[in-house]
Amino acid sequence: MKKVKIEPGPFIVPMPTVLVGAYVDGKPNFMTAAFVGLANFKPPIIACGLNPDHYTSKGIVESGVFSINLPHEGLVEETDWCGIFSGKNKDKSTVFETFTGDTLQTPMISACRLTAECKVIKTVPFAIDTVYFGEIVSVHVDEAALVNGSPDWETIAPLLFTFPDKGYWKLGEFVAKAWSVGKNFGGGDQ
Ligand SMILES: Cc1cc2nc3c(=O)[nH]c(=O)nc-3n(C[C@H](O)[C@H](O)[C@H](O)COP(=O)(O)O)c2cc1C
Repeated sequence: MKKVKIEPGPFIVPMPTVLVGAYVDGKPNFMTAAFVGLANFKPPIIACGLNPDHYTSKGIVESGVFSINLPHEGLVEETDWCGIFSGKNKDKSTVFETFTGDTLQTPMISACRLTAECKVIKTVPFAIDTVYFGEIVSVHVDEAALVNGSPDWETIAPLLFTFPDKGYWKLGEFVAKAWSVGKNFGGGDQ
């Protein structure tokens, strides 16, 4: 197949769709973010590329903590709304029922089946976004979304995001077990 070069862009998909939360001026505020990924296994460290001018970023810088909340399909309108409007002009504190972490003072969304409390350990500014590296110090999961103590992704049903078509998606079908299916491959030196 002939390959065509296109303009470089953030084309690692799907991206997660997360709601990043922080207390700003004493109130919970949440922004939608897709530039979110993992940076370290143990301790678990998450990297969030956020514009430093966002209202949520102000809360993160001032408090040194933030939350990660995984919305499901049923929260798609609220999630998109939090990505369209800023807490600078709209009161986002009443969009969701929230609870505060018992480890860090950071607001989390009750309706999200998996949420995490993160402590900022490093901040790296780039041209547009600043990457906030947060150590995940506590994870909260709905009891019904656990199987043998582990997150059940089908129940958590995280919302995904693709770019540049700006699409929200949900998880597709399970394909195979990792660190396992590759053993069936007869390639390499074998
Ligand atoms: C699907 C989606 C993904 C987004 N991802 C990011 C992101 O990764 N980083 C970012 O800085 N802004 C992102 N935004 C934009 C912010 O969510 C938006 O500017 C928001 O209004 C900021 O809210 P705040 O000022 O209350 O913090 C995204 C918006 C949408 C709709």
